[in-house]
Amino acid sequence: MKKSYYSLADSSLPKGMRLAVVSDLHAQDPSRAIDALREIKPTHILMAGDILEALNGSCDGKNGNAFSIFESAARIAPTFYCTGNHEDGGVHSERRRWKREHSTVRSYSEENISKIEKSGVHFLLNSYVTLDGMAVGGLASGLILEGGEPDLEFLRRFAELDAPKVLICHHPEYYEKYIRALPIDMTVSGHAHGGQWRFFGRGVYAPGQGLFPKYTSGLYEGRLAVSRGLKRTLIPPRIFNPTEIIVIET
Ligand SMILES: [Fe+2]
Repeated sequence: MKKSYYSLADSSLPKGMRLAVVSDLHAQDPSRAIDALREIKPTHILMAGDILEALNGSCDGKNGNAFSIFESAARIAPTFYCTGNHEDGGVHSERRRWKREHSTVRSYSEENISKIEKSGVHFLLNSYVTLDGMAVGGLASGLILEGGEPDLEFLRRFAELDAPKVLICHHPEYYEKYIRALPIDMTVSGHAHGGQWRFFGRGVYAPGQGLFPKYTSGLYEGRLAVSRGLKRTLIPPRIFNPTEIIVIET
């Protein structure tokens, strides 16, 4: 697993922070990620979605052990979590069934919500908290919703806050469309899996961005950090594209 460090000396975020960005675990064994977080010693941990699969109850068996990443992370540093499209059940092992019964409502089982909340993480579902001199918000995926848009009303309210702002937003393709023009200091994303195959420093494909996507890995304009994520796959394989935790230091 790659640990990618970026120094943001000019950022308006509070100084002395070490933000670890974790994304796209996809309910796999979290032990390596937890070990890496202990080594990194972050001041805060930002979980940028697709950590688990569908939270509606249909993937509880698969989610099993992966749930433990929340408790472990929260013991290391204050941890903030916002879901991605997979927690919404948009695409997972029951894809065919989902297509037949296409839901346009986000549904998480009460049991899963309660497990997340009891784990000690700040669960930010189109909401924010202020802590340690900054506001941390979570903009949930709009993929499953009618029209496919995220909660733009929440985004507008968050952008108006009079504090340095960090936004957790699973989809990096939202940056240009919805976020770039707003006074949000840092957005952290995943979803692209580094473009799955990387050649000459570029990813090949990312959902929502298509072929040769723009936002797949690293820091863009000093304001968007995109993690390659943690999911290890054999089919399709990751080529020249190790799994990754991003660390942003101010
Ligand atoms: Fe995703």
